[in-house]
Amino acid sequence: MDIKEIGVLGAGIMGSGIAQVAAQSGFSVSLVDIEDQVLKEGIEKIRESLRRFQQKGKMTETQAVETLARIRTSRSIEATMSAVDIVIEAVPEILKLKKEVFRQLDQICPKRAILATNTSSLSITEIASATKRPDKVVGMHFSNPVPVMVGVEVIQGLETSEETLADIYALTERLGKVGYKAKDFPGFVGNRMLMSMINEGFRVLWQGISSAEDIDRNCRLSFRHPMGPLELADFIGLDTVFHILEYLHNEIGERYRPCPLLKQLVTAGQLGVKTKKGVYDYTGGEKKPRSF
Ligand SMILES: NC(=O)c1ccc[n+]([C@@H]2O[C@H](COP(=O)([O-])OP(=O)(O)OC[C@H]3O[C@@H](n4cnc5c(N)ncnc54)[C@H](O)[C@@H]3O)[C@@H](O)[C@H]2O)c1
Repeated sequence: MDIKEIGVLGAGIMGSGIAQVAAQSGFSVSLVDIEDQVLKEGIEKIRESLRRFQQKGKMTETQAVETLARIRTSRSIEATMSAVDIVIEAVPEILKLKKEVFRQLDQICPKRAILATNTSSLSITEIASATKRPDKVVGMHFSNPVPVMVGVEVIQGLETSEETLADIYALTERLGKVGYKAKDFPGFVGNRMLMSMINEGFRVLWQGISSAEDIDRNCRLSFRHPMGPLELADFIGLDTVFHILEYLHNEIGERYRPCPLLKQLVTAGQLGVKTKKGVYDYTGGEKKPRSF
């Protein structure tokens, strides 16, 4: 399929990054969110990221202006998604919500359109069951921050067609990314491994064995990880981490039971960088340790 128009649903951490990369690659992008404020912040984040690319000499001012001009924002799926070739969905990691959104997209998008989900863990097959086009539903799991990270997990649901997969690999390449395949199993490959480590980092902290800073330092300095598990959890969003672990716990078993400390932070609405408080405190613009 000759993809020209891309719809991105959800303009949070991932949706804004996906919209930026798509526009940078020359696609015309409709970015939709239910919150006006999120759309404004999303565009601001994109502007800031393009500025950094310019400062590093990786993009000209004209290219940055043209990239921004290719993105239009809206709060209405109906007004924007009726002519797209593909939608990449990036709403919160809640199965019921994703199924509802896919049911709506199936009614609004053209019959030819592919419906891709950026889910971190949820069943592609179950999300596809909310539509009448399960052959065109596929997992396209980008990594955070999208403008920088190159890998994309491509997940084939039970009914995803080979044609859809081929289109997704071709699109991934046009976005300057590298796709790799995973089967439709909870957490796929990346998050099945990553969430074990993040949850274990929380348990070590919760048991008082070490401080958050030292747990993160341990992984950075001894394993050469670019970020420790707790700072990474704050960066991903603790609500997202919690939803993924809850799903993996239900689907795979006890070893993914979310640590009570993680649950407590999420219950308090302390979701990490995006709310300025999580494992660390980000108020005032710098990262400060907290005691638990
Ligand atoms: N954060 C990460 O590091 C990361 C990495 C890979 C994949 N993911 C996945 O990407 C998806 C989005 O995660 P995020 O971190 O961007 O979340 P986020 O909370 O930053 O953004 C989600 C956005 O979706 C919007 N939204 C909610 N319901 C909507 C609807 N019906 N229509 C349109 N917009 C709606 C919200 O207003 C919010 O702005 C999740 O499935 C998550 O698992 C996240």
